[in-house]
Amino acid sequence: MNVLGLNSNAPLIKHEGLFYTKMIEHLGTSLNPRAYFEIGTDAGVSLKAMKCASVAVDPQFRLAENVIGSKPSLHMFQMPSDDFFRDHAPIDYLKRPIELAFLDGMHRFEYLLRDFANTESYCRRNSVILLHDCLPTTIAMMSRIHAPDTWTGDVWKILPVLRKYRSDLHITYLDCPPTGLVAITNLDPNSSTISDSYFSIVREFMEADGKALKEFYSRITLTKSADLQSHDELTKLFWL
Ligand SMILES: C[S@@+](CC[C@H](N)C(=O)[O-])C[C@H]1O[C@@H](n2cnc3c(N)ncnc32)[C@H](O)[C@@H]1O
Repeated sequence: MNVLGLNSNAPLIKHEGLFYTKMIEHLGTSLNPRAYFEIGTDAGVSLKAMKCASVAVDPQFRLAENVIGSKPSLHMFQMPSDDFFRDHAPIDYLKRPIELAFLDGMHRFEYLLRDFANTESYCRRNSVILLHDCLPTTIAMMSRIHAPDTWTGDVWKILPVLRKYRSDLHITYLDCPPTGLVAITNLDPNSSTISDSYFSIVREFMEADGKALKEFYSRITLTKSADLQSHDELTKLFWL
């Protein structure tokens, strides 16, 4: 039990769909993006699945896969994402706006908020940004302190932020194990809402706790990722 009287290991939500890397691979194959951008590559499982021009950012790549495969180009930047965006623009390497992005870098919500705002500015309206680990299944997972087992950090806080400040976005919450996959489209590369209010947003949401997560879950509906295996169903939500 924590101070709120909540059992921090009690399951809050169930993810029973496609494993998240399978879903990312499916999106890559079905949507056929021409430009892919990734933050937090680690061993390279998701990067390997893409066949298009790609840019990957991670301060410490630990590649265990042949990640270039049939890609026409792959640029890898071994640095934190903030350094990358300070010094580089993805479009310079991809030669077109980002069409599919996967954000899975530092698991603290203010980092993901910056990664999202920076990435969106290089997208077009119907590009898709995927967020990992934003639908933790227990309160114990969402600590800001790195934990050895399944650790999501507090990146989930970006979801209530986007619902409150960016109601123009179209957000799909996918039931992908182990900790969800969130797919965001109807992007606005010219939006400055998050960057204009960045400090007050971080202040407002920093202390959001397990109770706030439970309340957020009571207001969203998970989409069954298995249903999006059908091309017809997938393209009702996403097209490039
Ligand atoms: C959970 S792992 C990513 C897992 C990988 N995407 C997958 O699905 O197998 C998180 C990664 O984020 C990277 N990372 C940590 N801080 C970062 C930062 N500030 N910017 C970019 N990546 C960061 C870590 O080096 C690590 O490889």
